[in-house]
Amino acid sequence: MEDIRRPENMERITTPELAEKFIEEQLKALREQIGDKKVLLALSGGVDSSVVAALLIKAVGKQLICVHVNHGLLRKGEPEQVIEVFRNQMDANLIYVDATDRFLDKLAGVADPETKRHIIGEEFIDVFAEEARKLDGISFLAQGTIWPDILESEAGIKAHHNAGGLPEDIASRFELVEPVRILFKDEVREVGRALGLPSGMVERQPFPGPGLGVRCPGAITRDRLEAVRESDAILREEFAKNGLEGKVWQYFTVVPDFKSTGVKNGKRTFDWPCIIRAINTTDVMEVTVEHLPAELIDHLVKRITTEVEGINRVLYDYTPKPPATVEYE
Ligand code: XMP
Repeated sequence: MEDIRRPENMERITTPELAEKFIEEQLKALREQIGDKKVLLALSGGVDSSVVAALLIKAVGKQLICVHVNHGLLRKGEPEQVIEVFRNQMDANLIYVDATDRFLDKLAGVADPETKRHIIGEEFIDVFAEEARKLDGISFLAQGTIWPDILESEAGIKAHHNAGGLPEDIASRFELVEPVRILFKDEVREVGRALGLPSGMVERQPFPGPGLGVRCPGAITRDRLEAVRESDAILREEFAKNGLEGKVWQYFTVVPDFKSTGVKNGKRTFDWPCIIRAINTTDVMEVTVEHLPAELIDHLVKRITTEVEGINRVLYDYTPKPPATVEYE
């Protein structure tokens, strides 16, 4: 594939008008490149793949086939939102694969963080490749690669996930389509807004590929994973209600694998703690902690300990990066 680079003097896309202009140019280029052929896209529901999907739906409609793999480590409501927005509202061709059991069975008893990440990554490729093999006559593979991905992989900071991860029989079948390749994240968001994607999708905080798996440290169990998912949903709901959504860079909960004694309705409990992490950053290399109002913390403690099964204590992580990383694994 031709190595398309961001022109040095390219104007930053900061307004709806500039986003519209970019969209018009891309639609034309995509229609020229794709013609009447079919395109495959792994649609996670994150900002980049969602914007790529919306662009391709506009450009080639049903010639796009989206595959949404639910690895069981997504946040509450995410698969439902992908189905609602893309299948129901945008009338896209969407294949939904619920691979939860497959992932959780493979991860059962695995406590080492790097092994967990490896299993999740490999299994994701396997599931996606299986779906791809079932489909005939697909010529293109679309990806939500953005400009920082290219820069980081060139600088050796992060391996850029491209078709290289796919088995050779699959990768060799496709030509790559990367319509947001020359954009920075804020520009992808501007384009997403202009394409009419819901704000909850466009303004989404970063979410790691291994998902809630890295927020359930050690060997993942279904009950502890559920406690992570439910407490995360409460945290997001309260941040939205208190005007913090889109203002704080990233916020989530972690449920570590140890228990402590508590008391509920006069009876002893022995349950997990729930750790809240809320951070701000510009480059993710250095991170500061968001200081929440005391009333909000009190409210979160009350909601999480009463509504989430298996939690009897809430802790707040005040550690910047360095020395801590953002995620726990
Ligand atoms: P750390 O924990 O390295 O996180 O300080 C920095 C940022 O990167 C996100 N992160 C990931 N994103 N795949 C991703 O796409 C991953 O495996 C991954 N691990 C961490 C993290 O959420 C934070 O925003």
